[in-house]
Amino acid sequence: MLPPLFLSSLSFSLAFLSVLDVYPDTCHCEGRKVNCNGKNLLHVPAVSSNVTALELNSNRIESLSRDLFIRYRHLERLHLESNSIETISKRAFSGLVALRKLFLSQNKISSLKAGIFSDLSSLEWLILDENRISSLRQKSFEGLKSLFFLSLLNNSVEQFPKTSICHEMPRLNWLEMEGNIISSLWASSFKNCSSLTVLALRRNRISTIEEGTFADMQRLIDLDVSVNQIKDLPPSLFQNLQNLKQLNISNNPLVNIYSNQFDSLVNLQSLSMEEVEIPNISIRMFRPLTNLTHIYFKRFEFCGYSPNVRSCKPNTDGISSFENLLANIILRVFVWVVAFIICFGNIFVICLRSCIASENQHHTMAIKSLCCADCLMGVYLLFIGAFDIKYCGEYNRHAQIWMESLSCQLIGSLAMLSTEVSVMMLTYMTLEKYLCIVFPFQHYRAGRKQTLCSLTFIWLLGFIIAVIPFWDKQTFGNFYGRNGVCFPLHSDQTEKPGARCYSTAIFLGLNLLAFVMIVFSYSSMFYSVQKTAKTARQTVYDREVTIAKRFFFIVFTDALCWIPIFLLKILSLLRVQIAGTIILWVVIFILPINSALNPILYTITTSAFQQRLKQCLKYRCQQTN
Ligand SMILES: *[C@@H]1O[C@H](CO)[C@@H](O)[C@H](O)[C@H]1NC(C)=O
Ligand SMILES: *[C@@H]1O[C@H](CO)[C@@H](O)[C@H](O)[C@H]1NC(C)=O
Ligand SMILES: *[C@@H]1O[C@H](CO)[C@@H](O)[C@H](O)[C@H]1NC(C)=O
Ligand SMILES: *[C@@H]1O[C@H](CO)[C@@H](O)[C@H](O)[C@H]1NC(C)=O
Ligand SMILES: *[C@@H]1O[C@H](CO)[C@@H](O)[C@H](O)[C@H]1NC(C)=O
Ligand SMILES: *[C@@H]1O[C@H](CO)[C@@H](O)[C@H](O)[C@H]1NC(C)=O
Repeated sequence: MLPPLFLSSLSFSLAFLSVLDVYPDTCHCEGRKVNCNGKNLLHVPAVSSNVTALELNSNRIESLSRDLFIRYRHLERLHLESNSIETISKRAFSGLVALRKLFLSQNKISSLKAGIFSDLSSLEWLILDENRISSLRQKSFEGLKSLFFLSLLNNSVEQFPKTSICHEMPRLNWLEMEGNIISSLWASSFKNCSSLTVLALRRNRISTIEEGTFADMQRLIDLDVSVNQIKDLPPSLFQNLQNLKQLNISNNPLVNIYSNQFDSLVNLQSLSMEEVEIPNISIRMFRPLTNLTHIYFKRFEFCGYSPNVRSCKPNTDGISSFENLLANIILRVFVWVVAFIICFGNIFVICLRSCIASENQHHTMAIKSLCCADCLMGVYLLFIGAFDIKYCGEYNRHAQIWMESLSCQLIGSLAMLSTEVSVMMLTYMTLEKYLCIVFPFQHYRAGRKQTLCSLTFIWLLGFIIAVIPFWDKQTFGNFYGRNGVCFPLHSDQTEKPGARCYSTAIFLGLNLLAFVMIVFSYSSMFYSVQKTAKTARQTVYDREVTIAKRFFFIVFTDALCWIPIFLLKILSLLRVQIAGTIILWVVIFILPINSALNPILYTITTSAFQQRLKQCLKYRCQQTN
């Protein structure tokens, strides 16, 4: 049977460690184990019949002929990895009644003949990774009564047999099928697979899973169907998997998860749904999963729907984190600082304006109005800071309830009211000044009644803009409660089209228009002042420079505040992914810039105001003296 080449190379050695009589002298022998790894062997060498382990990895063996191992009744472990085995005789493994582990990875095996393993009644591990096996037949596994672990990783299996694979392998416990090209799973393939505890079907092309496929797998602990083409999971698919501890359905193009999908998985500890969009997500979906500790989603927003898990990934959307409403520690502090600066600055100006009598009543009224609007931004930030403290350390438990709560909606609309009234007020004041300066001889001056009307109109309009999203839940969805800070700055795929149109119309329509008007008015005002000043004296020129400086600062701070927001809006319309961190910085630092600076720009720095303040103080001094 053995080729002459090998007979000549056999040595009848009495090696110190070895208890075997016969093995090739190039190989090692230890106890009753023979190691012939990487010896360029072309054929299986002959060794003593009482060998228990035979390692022939990384050789150049091409085929296994019949009765090759028939003498090795004690062989328990046979390694044939990384050879070039293409053909295996139907009777190649005959007689290996004691064999427990058979390794055949990294060969060129393309099919398993019927009955090929029929003598291997003690076999527990059968490793066939990285071969070219394309079809599985029930008869191939005949006789594997003790098989525990079957691995067919990185083969080309197209489908399971329609008849149960567990019929031949009743003790099959672990089935590894990662990296094949299986396209559907039939319930009949897994009938009576009640011993199965691990089923790995990752990286296949599964698109349909028949209802009842997993129905007999009461002992299943780990199920991995990630990276497949599954669009729909039948609602009762996981019904009998009471013992399942890990489920991975990541990276599938699932269109829907049924709300009762996971109801029977009471022992589930880890649920992986990365890259899965869940349009109908609800808290109810995860409520039955009382033992769940780890959950993995596509987006952070989903974490709020599983309030009781200990760990949820992704951990943050940049705005909020699993622990805190405001994810960033710097912003958690600065939200208070900014809020106090805004509130204090604006209230200070309102008080001063009330205390100092001014001849231009209308202008004062507008300024006070502006300060009120800006102050609301401070109130908004105060609330955000307060709720951040309230939910400190356990935000995820409350995230969903918070975002759907009336408080969130109300403070969101407060921020909206504040920004919009502020923007419109600035535009109004600018236009008024513009008419005054550009058409100085028309004596255009708004009367008290007119001013009052305009201001009321602006507030009313701002109010309407802020409350319109409450009007119709169907079109707007949860307009404000889309993130922890309740401000609808960025759009994403899940946003309702109505809501997206509306916020675009506000932030890119109304606000951009206002911004353009402000820039235009100030430019032409500056131009007209310069024209009249050309003929004037030095003092007029100085005044012109101060005015220009002020104009520049007003336009500059407006630009500072609004251009990032316009950009953000445009990018999110173009579906560019924007990091949540950026949005948080914009909401806490950039958006309130105007509110914080307006009192300074429009009041404190004006020379007229400074003069009046001096007069007022002098008057007070004289009174007290
Ligand atoms: C192995 O078989 C040889 C005869 O082939 C025998 O001499 C030897 O004692 C056996 N060793 C063991 C450990 O059974
Ligand atoms: C299986 O195939 C994948 C992709 O081709 C490869 O990344 C992976 O390393 C392979 N697995 C093993 C165990 O070789
Ligand atoms: C499945 O198991 C049931 C009882 O548990 C048995 O009656 C039936 O014959 C088995 N079917 C197969 C295909 O093994
Ligand atoms: C689930 O499967 C995906 C893709 O195969 C993998 O990246 C992820 O680590 C798995 N999750 C767990 C918890 O094992
Ligand atoms: C899921 O949402 C769609 C609309 O997006 C709705 O028609 C369907 O009834 C919902 N299904 C469930 C199970 O809630
Ligand atoms: C959760 O797991 C513990 C132990 O792992 C178990 O005792 C308990 O019954 C499980 N809870 C449910 C609801 O099955």
